[in-house]
This record gives sequence, structure tokens and C-alpha cells, in this order.
Amino acid sequence: MEDRFGHRISYLRVSITDRCNERCTYCMPQELQEWLPRQDILTFEETLRLIRIASELGVTKLRITGGEPLTRRDVIQLFRQLPGLTNLRDLGLSTNGTLLTREVEPGLTMAEAVRSCGFRSVNISLDTLDRAEYARITGRDLLPDVIAGIDAARAADFSQVKINSVLMRGRSENSLTSLVEFAAERNLLLRFIELMPVTTTEVLSDRNFLPVAEAKRKIESKFGPLIPQPEFKTNGPATYYQVPGRAQRIGFIGAITNLHFCESCNKLRLTCDGKLRPCLGSYLEFDIMTPLRAGASDAQLRQFFLDVVERKPEQHDFRTTYQPGRKMVAIGG
Ligand SMILES: C[S@@+](CC[C@H](N)C(=O)[O-])C[C@H]1O[C@@H](n2cnc3c(N)ncnc32)[C@H](O)[C@@H]1O
Ligand code: SF4
Repeated sequence: MEDRFGHRISYLRVSITDRCNERCTYCMPQELQEWLPRQDILTFEETLRLIRIASELGVTKLRITGGEPLTRRDVIQLFRQLPGLTNLRDLGLSTNGTLLTREVEPGLTMAEAVRSCGFRSVNISLDTLDRAEYARITGRDLLPDVIAGIDAARAADFSQVKINSVLMRGRSENSLTSLVEFAAERNLLLRFIELMPVTTTEVLSDRNFLPVAEAKRKIESKFGPLIPQPEFKTNGPATYYQVPGRAQRIGFIGAITNLHFCESCNKLRLTCDGKLRPCLGSYLEFDIMTPLRAGASDAQLRQFFLDVVERKPEQHDFRTTYQPGRKMVAIGG
């Protein structure tokens, strides 16, 4: 699948729930959430059908996200069916890490169960190593569970465990260098992500926004000039650097300040309530659940995907007109 601007779509991010056991300030409102009713969420069977169709159209990489995907009941039953789908070569999971140590069967942790379903990489969100700050950011005092979850993922032998850290002035700002050390000790690939306007506007203000360039300078003031690694790529839009004198690499995702951010975009998103979104930073979303439930054939659903790709914008609207209509938790980061 290729859009009007030459973006080749090979990567589908699928949100399987809008629910979460945390309340990150930048992702969802603090007050009680109204979750989507069950009948409005794609069933496992519907989700698998749409993933299969996308894979037949050239999607080779799949990332499962949410909300917190590991809160979905019987999620391992869904994961077990993924490796059999056409063309999928690369399975990844995004999680807050809090549930990775949970036993899904006697003697089998969630991390091991996910790994046994063919997942190669797991991305774990961690913005700070300060327990009180973690609780303020996420609304939950779960830092020890996340660290145990990271260690469970390492023990489960994923080919890559990444840490995603959202940059926030005055919050995660104070943890940048300790996160670099933490990642080095555990052989984790750390990436810093600029705060995006996908939440209530009061959270995202100039007061909170910390540009990647400034974060990089702060890290360099402790470790020395970071060495660009233009050849090193993962699937996403991160720019990587080597920490001087170490094998460690760290990445920066400058969704707002990097003007070339969208050029290599290869993504499409499927929300848990059956909307296809061609771009995270655009209002555009297309309801594929209605035709799916009305009995559309595979050929009709394939055409639906192609039509959505055709509408993919050249770049996101974050810098101009975008005001969030949906919170990140309901889109799937
Ligand atoms: C929506 S979460 C879903 C998966 C899982 N619950 C987690 O926290 O990793 C996916 C990613 O989006 C990031 N995220 C959420 N809101 C964001 C925002 N406003 N700006 C930048 N990243 C955001 C989170 O930090 C997380 O790394
Ligand atoms: S970022 Fe992840 S853990 Fe935090 S509220 Fe959003 S979905 Fe939940």
C-alpha cells in the first residue's frame, strides 16, 4: 500500500482496549473514565480478520497497544493466533510494564507468555525513576511493578526491550541522566519522546513541553557529545545516537520539533472501536467496524484499507490546527 505522497504502509498499530490501570496526565483525564461498552470494542475474531487483511495488503509489522493492552481479558488467546497470519514478520507490544510479572498460568509470567506467542520486541513506558514523580505522572504508585516488569521482559529473552520516555519540563526532565544509566545497566534501548497534543490542552502547554534538542543537551552535559548514528534504524521515526565511550545507543523522537518527522511514516492505526486512522496527528478516522459487522467481504474490506491509505495526509497537524478530539488512550499510541 502506498499513499499519494510515497509513504509505504507496512506497519499497523492496533489498539485492543481503551482501558488502562494507570492515568498518565498526558494521555487521559484524571477523573473517572467512562470506558467504551464491550459491544463497541472489536472482538478478537474481528481484530484478527482486519489484521489478516492488512497483512495481505503488505503490512509486515504489527504493534499491539492500547490503553493498556495487558488489561484485556484473555489477551494471550488473541496473541497466540497472530503468528499464523500471512506476511506478519515482526510482532511488538507497547505496555506500561505493570502487568508483565503477573502469572497467566501456573509458572508462566505474562512476559514469558507474550514472548512465546512470537513477539520479538516489547516497548515499556517509563518517564522517571523517582517513585513519587512516577505516581504523580501516572496517577498510580506502580514504579516497583514496572521495574519488575522490565526485568521479567529481559528474563523472557525478547530480542529487544525498549523504554519509551515522554519528555516533560520539570517532571521527567530531572530523570534524563538516571534513565540513561538505568538503560545502560540493563541493556535497554531508551528513547525520549516529545509530548504531543493528544490530551487535554492544559497538560500540554509551553510550560510543560521539553524539546528533544534541549533534552539532548542536558544528557550531553553529563556524558559528553552524543555521536549520531544515522545508519541505525528501528521501525519508527527515532533518531539515534551513541553515548560516548559506551556501546549504548539512545533515541529521540521529535514529533513536534523535527520538521522531517512525517517523511518516512509507514503507519496506519486501528482503534479498539474499529476506526482506521491514517495519521495520529490528524482528525481523520474511518469507521471500518460498521461495514465489517454488516457482512462486508474480504475484497470490500481490502478496498476500505486502500481508500484510507489514499487519504493519508502528507504530515501531521500538531503544529497548526490540531486540537484533540480523542485522548491518546482512546487512539492507541
Ligand atoms: C498510549 S500508550 C499505550 C500503551 C501502554 N499503555 C503504554 O503506556 O506504553 C503508548 C505510548 O504513548 C505515549 N503517550 C501517551 N500520551 C502521549 C502524549 N501526549 N505525548 C507523547 N506520547 C504519549 C505513552 O508514553 C506510551 O509510550
Ligand atoms: S500512556 Fe499507557 S499507561 Fe499511561 S494512561 Fe496512557 S495507556 Fe495508560
